Amino acid sequence: MKDNYEDRIRCPRLMQRVTSPQEAASWIRDGMTVGMSGFTRAGDAKALPAALAERARHEPLRITLLTGASLGNDTDKLLTEAGALARRMPFQADPVLRAAINRGEVMYIDQHLSETVETLRSRQMKPVDVAIIEAVAITESGAIIPTTSVGNSASFAILADKVIVEINLSQTPDLEGLHDIWIPKARPTREALPVVSVDQRVGVPYIDIPFEKIVAVVITDQVDSTSSIQPPDSETAAIAGHLVKFFENEIEAGRLTRRLLPLQAGIGTIANAVMAGFADSPFEHLTMYSEVLQDSTFDLFDAGKLDYASGSSITLSPSKSAQVFGDFGRYKDRLVLRPQEVSNHPEAIRRLGIIAINTALEADIYGNVNSTHVLGTHMMNGIGGSGDFARNAYLSVFATKSIAKGGKVSSIVPMVTHVDHTEHDVDIIVTELGLADLRGLAPRERADVIIANCVAAPYQDMLREYVAEAKQRGGHTPHVLEKAFDWHNRYRETGSMLPAA
Ligand code: COA
Repeated sequence: MKDNYEDRIRCPRLMQRVTSPQEAASWIRDGMTVGMSGFTRAGDAKALPAALAERARHEPLRITLLTGASLGNDTDKLLTEAGALARRMPFQADPVLRAAINRGEVMYIDQHLSETVETLRSRQMKPVDVAIIEAVAITESGAIIPTTSVGNSASFAILADKVIVEINLSQTPDLEGLHDIWIPKARPTREALPVVSVDQRVGVPYIDIPFEKIVAVVITDQVDSTSSIQPPDSETAAIAGHLVKFFENEIEAGRLTRRLLPLQAGIGTIANAVMAGFADSPFEHLTMYSEVLQDSTFDLFDAGKLDYASGSSITLSPSKSAQVFGDFGRYKDRLVLRPQEVSNHPEAIRRLGIIAINTALEADIYGNVNSTHVLGTHMMNGIGGSGDFARNAYLSVFATKSIAKGGKVSSIVPMVTHVDHTEHDVDIIVTELGLADLRGLAPRERADVIIANCVAAPYQDMLREYVAEAKQRGGHTPHVLEKAFDWHNRYRETGSMLPAA
């Protein structure tokens, strides 16, 4: 494995810094803040974190870990089990870490993904001591070529005192040229973000840092974890069908063309399935300005529906990964990966007029959305980039199946137990049963439309009763406060939101 890395490290002085993961990990000491590459299981450092976890099993070592988004290769699990995580931000999706967060053992800061490096840059947070970045190659001058994600890697490397690079020989060298690194200047004289079209490149294809900052280089050939999303099912296909119909109506009304507007799709099974549904639609020459590019992006390329996709990472299922990276040249000219503060930048999202499609755990009758907290208390994954997009989108869609846990949970409830996206940021709610178009509606109207279109049968009458009683109490957004969380309490106590028969 290690014979073949000379052409990946083109800066001769850095050849002398090639070392073992264990040796490189010794740069990281107890209490440090570490910024690591990795976004939705793609392009994450692999060998270093495993060496860190090993060390933490034998000596006191607790760090603050910052990444782009979630990690693969069980890194969050290994670090959690070794007790190495004191603080973690801005996103995770690992069951073991999730449990530790919910036990209060790891302090988790669930953050809009566009904001993490802004808070670092403006010194509102402790600085990054060491950055660990996975790379395809290092250039002659010491610049880093990232792999399958950019995430926060560029700013971590620029802002950290020291940088450790993991050269990953399993990542195809064809990835070089895919990235577009643009970093905002300091305030108050910051310039406008120059992205005015989805396919516009505004930066450079590498992370430009002085080579002296790179204190160690590690060689690995461990592959990215593949995505764990489920294939589309009849319900997710129905959700996609409702959205296709909705967009057809928008075209008929003259508000959109068959190209629609640039699409963003959130993480997970539902968002991926919704995008996959567009393969079978009348739309054409679509574009994406999104964060994670999942299987559906490449299905849409192959179906001849998608012209261009801009993202911050590529995360694929095993079979899709083999197909795409086995023949990457076929797609490369139609793709760009950007830092997440650019892919998720409010200015670009508003300017381009993004159609944002994200997923709710639950939504309420007025259109407030909870994407993160089960029963208002227990963290699922995090808000990710959904808030960056929902607030600034041309059209903000939230999709969910109408029920969860075999029908014991209704995804539409009287009042959400945690608010990630307020009613002001939500235009459309769609379930497999139908679509609620909330644009231009007042709260009382929104409740009627959501209940009529999106709610499963046993819960529909219960919600109608709730709203009727709430309206008697009056108010702009009527509620029966003492009953607003009855369904959640019942679920917690009996395992079902439905009353006993
Ligand atoms: N109460 C309790 N659990 C619920 C629930 C509810 N109201 N709704 C869904 N769930 C559970 C499901 O049962 C499932 O549990 P399981 O894994 O034990 O089977 C899990 O949540 C995931 O739901 P699923 O229906 O499979 O949807 P998904 O894979 O599309 O994920 C989110 C949905 C909301 C968890 C996911 O999209 C997410 O984390 N979103 C927030 C971040 C985000 O939107 N980022 C976008 C830009 S990065």
